[in-house]
Amino acid sequence: MSSYTPHPLEVRVVSRRFDQPKARTLAGYLESDGFKALDKALALTPDAIIDEVKKSGLRGRGGAGFPTGLKWSFVPKQSAREKYVLCNADESEPGTCKDRLILEYDPFAIIEGMLIAGLAIGARRGYIYIRGEYRYLIDIMEAALKEARDAGYVGTNIRGKGFDFDIHAHTGAGAYECGEESALMESLEGKRGIPRLKPPFPAVAGFMGGPTVINNVETLASVPPIIINGGDWFAAFGPPKNGGTRLFCLSGHVNNQGVFELPLGFPLRRLIDDLGGGMRHGAKLKALVPGGSSTPLLPADIAWDLALDYDSVAKTGSFLGSGGVVVVDENTCMVKFALRIMQFYRHESCGWCVPCREGTNWLQLSLTRFHNGGGRDGDIETLREVSENILGRTFCALGDAAAMPTLSILKHWRQEFEDHLNGKPCPFGAKTSVAVSAH
Ligand SMILES: Cc1cc2nc3c(=O)[nH]c(=O)nc-3n(C[C@H](O)[C@H](O)[C@H](O)COP(=O)(O)O)c2cc1C
Repeated sequence: MSSYTPHPLEVRVVSRRFDQPKARTLAGYLESDGFKALDKALALTPDAIIDEVKKSGLRGRGGAGFPTGLKWSFVPKQSAREKYVLCNADESEPGTCKDRLILEYDPFAIIEGMLIAGLAIGARRGYIYIRGEYRYLIDIMEAALKEARDAGYVGTNIRGKGFDFDIHAHTGAGAYECGEESALMESLEGKRGIPRLKPPFPAVAGFMGGPTVINNVETLASVPPIIINGGDWFAAFGPPKNGGTRLFCLSGHVNNQGVFELPLGFPLRRLIDDLGGGMRHGAKLKALVPGGSSTPLLPADIAWDLALDYDSVAKTGSFLGSGGVVVVDENTCMVKFALRIMQFYRHESCGWCVPCREGTNWLQLSLTRFHNGGGRDGDIETLREVSENILGRTFCALGDAAAMPTLSILKHWRQEFEDHLNGKPCPFGAKTSVAVSAH
């Protein structure tokens, strides 16, 4: 088991137990306020729990940033079908590596968050869908679930209060698409992991057709401290409508990469300089991926003054996404960057929707040829058109996730495409050789 050293500038709410190895056992968890929030929630009405989460301003940490309390309130109170709570632990977005820390260092917090969500919506069963490559975390989660079940925190008549809630862990098989909520449900039902048409949304008809709340690991782990300390306490960490702290995954061309818990609205400049130890080799910032590879890239002049909260990033035309902040320096070829991102999306497209399946393939083929110096007049426009024809034309947002960064690169770094076209193949590095087979 690895160890964790917090940075002194961090504001530790979700990560408060990361450096307490004892808290990874039930006994240690109970010693550090474990299941106190559950006890408090058991004395509240479902509406009171939801109100507290609404007050906290907590927004989903999985990518879309939807307000969590509002999402929970959409679940019908009465339902002929069983209701479910799903924890999305598929964490596959490039640049994002935070949920793994919660799974490893504070697994009981996820269990407690799911129990409280279950109380709030009237569910009796929950599933944690864990990324298949996180093999070692699956074992940790299973062990935590067994301890919690043996001690009566999971199962029937929890804490003697007549609350029944069972939780099962389920593993994915390495498909990025299975992190998309409806594809995750298909997969969990034992079917091919492809997205569903929405509406109906999961809150109305989700897993097994029942009303379902699906939340990211970090979202659920934020719930116990909200219930213990109150929604207002959590909200006060960030700007209005951007409550709390979040785990930022800082990677790329900085000296000190890592996962840091910071209040929403934290300045990007300070994340890079104070926590990231500055730009690597003193190079200049060229581009920023603000929230995982799906989010539009921002040029340095916009990025440097960015406040890292949902609304501030949205104003720039990008998203805070899943908290994956990737720093890109001046020595990076943006054509190659676009290609590298497309390799991922082309590989991960589930193939269900034609614009995504065909579009990502053609974009990868064209970007490879283009980057290798084989660009033709009209290519830049074609790259833009193909991307725009994916955007908004697929069942899930994987297509958008492939198109948006590509379009932002074409917009902000068009000159680099022109240079490649004008007989200046990549000034930054060697040719790219990638497998470009058709689907
Ligand atoms: C292609 C794709 C992959 C996704 N992967 C994840 C993932 O790995 N983890 C996650 O929490 N959300 C992921 N999402 C977002 C989920 O669909 C969903 O919005 C999220 O689980 C809701 O939880 P939240 O409200 O707590 O953020 C993905 C979305 C898409 C379109």
